[in-house]
Amino acid sequence: MRTNLRGGNEDPGFELFFKTNLEEYTDFPIEFENPLPNWLKGTLIRYGMRSVTIRYDPLRSVTIRYDPLRSVTIRYVPLLHEDGVTPDFSEVEKIEALTRGIDNMNVNIYRFERNESKYDYVVLNDFWKAYTIDPLSLETKSSVTAKVPYIKETSPRFGFLNLLSSAHPLPEEGTSSHLTFLSSVSLVPLVKSTISLVRIHSLHQRELIAKWNVDTVPYMHSFSVTSNFAVLFASPFYVNTLKMVKNAEPFESLDWHGDQPTTVYIVNLKTKELTTLETENMFAMHHVNAFELGNHIVVDVSSYPNPDFVGNLQIDILLDPARRNGFDPHALLKRYVIDMESGLVERTHFDSPINVPFSANLDMPVINENYRHKEYCYTYGIVLKHDNMSLSNIALVKKNMCGDTTKDRSWILKGHYPVEPWFVQRLGSVQEDDGFLFVPIIDGKNQRSYIAMLDAKSMELVNKAYLPTIVPYNLHGRFFEDIV
Ligand SMILES: [Fe+2]
Repeated sequence: MRTNLRGGNEDPGFELFFKTNLEEYTDFPIEFENPLPNWLKGTLIRYGMRSVTIRYDPLRSVTIRYDPLRSVTIRYVPLLHEDGVTPDFSEVEKIEALTRGIDNMNVNIYRFERNESKYDYVVLNDFWKAYTIDPLSLETKSSVTAKVPYIKETSPRFGFLNLLSSAHPLPEEGTSSHLTFLSSVSLVPLVKSTISLVRIHSLHQRELIAKWNVDTVPYMHSFSVTSNFAVLFASPFYVNTLKMVKNAEPFESLDWHGDQPTTVYIVNLKTKELTTLETENMFAMHHVNAFELGNHIVVDVSSYPNPDFVGNLQIDILLDPARRNGFDPHALLKRYVIDMESGLVERTHFDSPINVPFSANLDMPVINENYRHKEYCYTYGIVLKHDNMSLSNIALVKKNMCGDTTKDRSWILKGHYPVEPWFVQRLGSVQEDDGFLFVPIIDGKNQRSYIAMLDAKSMELVNKAYLPTIVPYNLHGRFFEDIV
């Protein structure tokens, strides 16, 4: 790996990703340079790393402010933060924070059906708790901690931290439900921790599908669902309960075991039967998609040899050119084929072609959601440091998962910094990649943000609209076609 030691002169404006922006605009019209297709209607909501957020705490009726990227934090109510807070909590505040749970729901946005054609819009992190928001004003409405489905009203509620879940629930095929998991960390010696697979009927109504004991709770950010199965890859990145209680910093309380295999949990959604298998040692933040082929389950993930890159995603490192260019941020797309008869897990990895020599290194994968649970061909994502020199050289990438790498494409513009795209299929089209990618991009030289629209077939930029203010780094988003 080569390191760029020339400093940050080559990437003006990259630091805007990580700068606080308090400007707000409501119903501000933006103008695309070219006419938009007349079938295109909807609302794109991005959610992510806002440097300062104001939240209302319903328990104490006070306003709190926090900084999820670890700069100065002003605290009024102790709430758990993924990477801790500055200054540190007192011992009493740590217990309060563990009891109250997480606060920074800055990772993803979903909606759960409330009743016919009515939805609750939720913002999520890797936790059981969620915030509901108004999808038009983006105003935070309430903090919701759904009842844990296996705890009876009369059961004691102490002894477990029912905290960890997924920022990426997945729709259940043929239903209006979603699926997620809940990890319950035991605080009682000799009592096992558990992982549960849970059906989300609605924001408040959850159903237990399966629950199993584990010796240690793995950190899992996402998982996979096919027509009949949920597949969880439990990499050996385990919650250290003592550290968790001592420090009240979830992400700082994880231990990586590079010598242990990844445990694969497969739950049959119909019979609720659990199958436990093993595969290689690896770490994956994002599953791409999964589907069934006869007795086989095919699972595609953006994998890493270990979770070290996560530790480098700190604001002091990201703002320092030498440090940010000095670590390897590259994932590798891998395919795991699980034979449900023999229990064998066969692993292959995807290759990059000469014309896009980094296409298999993408993370933040998105697909045409109409192909969720199905055989599919295309995933889109980003590759940081595509030139192996500078982290800020970010490529938008299209990867053909069906074999012909000559169909891989990328979009790169020096000094322009994209984040995860979102795919919208052309109305009425039956071709998987016939549609557009929408992606916020910072134009570093001009110190402006714009929404780019790329033709997903060619990955050419076909339209863009400059925004009235800078959009700092944001992780995930979603296009809601019926919000207009
Ligand atoms: Fe994610």
